[in-house]
Amino acid sequence: MSIQSDNIEKLVQRRAKARLGGGEKRIEAQHAKGKLTARERLELLLDPGSFEEFDMFVQHRCTNFGMDASHPDGDGVVTGCGTIGGRVVYVFAQDFTVSGGSLSKTMSEKICKVQDMALRNGAPCIGLNDSGGARIQEGIDALAGYGEIFERNILASGVIPQISCIMGPCAGGAVYSPALTDFTLMVKNTSYMFLTGPAVVKSVTGEVVDQEQLGGASVHASKSGVTHFAAEDEKDALETIKNLLSFLPQNNMETAPFKETSDPVNRVDDALNSIVPDNPNKAYDMYGVIGSIVDDGIFLEVHKEFAKNIIVGFAHMNGRSVGIVANQPKVLAGVLDINASRKAARFVRFCDAFNIPLVTLVDVPGFLPGTQQEYGAIITNGAKLLYAYGEATVPKVTVTLRKGYGGAHIVMSCKQLRGDINYAWPSAQIAVMGADGAVNVLYAKEIKADPENAKAIFEEKKAEYEELFSNPYQAAQKGYIDDVIEPRNTRFRVIRALEQLSGKRQEIPAKKHDNLPL
Ligand code: HXC
Repeated sequence: MSIQSDNIEKLVQRRAKARLGGGEKRIEAQHAKGKLTARERLELLLDPGSFEEFDMFVQHRCTNFGMDASHPDGDGVVTGCGTIGGRVVYVFAQDFTVSGGSLSKTMSEKICKVQDMALRNGAPCIGLNDSGGARIQEGIDALAGYGEIFERNILASGVIPQISCIMGPCAGGAVYSPALTDFTLMVKNTSYMFLTGPAVVKSVTGEVVDQEQLGGASVHASKSGVTHFAAEDEKDALETIKNLLSFLPQNNMETAPFKETSDPVNRVDDALNSIVPDNPNKAYDMYGVIGSIVDDGIFLEVHKEFAKNIIVGFAHMNGRSVGIVANQPKVLAGVLDINASRKAARFVRFCDAFNIPLVTLVDVPGFLPGTQQEYGAIITNGAKLLYAYGEATVPKVTVTLRKGYGGAHIVMSCKQLRGDINYAWPSAQIAVMGADGAVNVLYAKEIKADPENAKAIFEEKKAEYEELFSNPYQAAQKGYIDDVIEPRNTRFRVIRALEQLSGKRQEIPAKKHDNLPL
């Protein structure tokens, strides 16, 4: 054998060993937990044959606690670059088979390298997390590594899409990198995120709780909103990442890719003409409207289980990516509360940062009243949504389907807060409040003074109010909405509006950064 072929053989063997991470036994243990290895995950995520691995031979430099006895090539993370649907992405996948994926200083250097490359080259950065947190043996070095990763998360925010997928443990300060990224996914039953685990919770507060209840995927998808997606299994999570990316541009200087459709632009849907019930207090399903107006009925919902009174997600309209925000009359009558405001505000800001036009479907009776909401700062949280819409410079098309009452009407992308094209269905009621509430305020004295005729006075004044405000025409007469449209034509009208607005350029005053009401 020549020296060169010997060298090549050594390389092949060293690569093969590195690919085994912590070794076959640990790979088996990983599989036994229902989890894939870092490399298996990347294989499912990336286009076949597209993965280019970096830093396969990087080793940790720690000598404490006997760490110098073993130096696995690559340490506990696999990093590199590949393509998804032919588009470049940068990736890192923590390898639980090496020291439980715990973060060493060298691992953080590997992760920072792909973060830097993603930012420099204008491509999304995707992290697959499966780690025991800071590598305990490395002490402050491991913490420093986290700081350097967070710094890059922050600098890349709003420039390239950043996606985190939690596929195992993610505890302590390690949770903050995912929290700083645009989208977090978790895998049901095998992943969890919390700042302090069940044992610490018990010793500090006495509360007894298991990992799943404390920080499992279902909890974070429905209660805290920390995760945007709760996947059934790892494959589902990786497919969701691919699907999500298909709606997003590579960076904030580009637009999202065009998606061919055979769905006609002028497809009408007669069912929409009767979807709003005659009784204004009766609910209907907003998903029916969304499914009807978007291309091929395909809608990728974000935060599906969280604050279900508002719906947010991505769709295509005539091939162009749009962000949909819609009140859901079926849940809490579509009212805006703290969580709904936070959820929608974050989504609106993401779309604005990445040049994705917003389509807003309004049926909102107002903000949720009560001490719980006031003490929880509904004022500040509602202001987030108001702020997000007000600062957004992407094209904004709004359709008021039914109720658009009070401050909630203003918040939901109204014309006077930089809405571009605002339509209303004939069933729209755009007013300060609903008829019952208004009459009770305006005619309280008259009603009290004449108890015998109270009901008649109430009904008469209610009819008067409804005649004036329970329709879209007062707003239309004043130009507060641009047109009253037939519901069945909504798809066509929204697409035409978006096309009109496709060249929109709007500036905001120069500033260091804004002061969003956090
Ligand atoms: C070093 C670690 C480690 C860590 C796990 N391992 N976590 N090594 N530092 N943080 C090692 C284990 O010693 C073990 O090595 C191997 O990884 C697999 O771990 P197991 O415990 O056998 O696996 P499992 O039973 O599945 O339990 C996984 C786990 C548990 C729940 C993650 O290992 C655990 O609780 N680890 C500690 C978690 C933690 O407290 N991390 C610090 C969080 S604070 P061997 O060789 O025995 O197989 C933090 C601060 C970040 O991260 C601050 C950022 C600002």
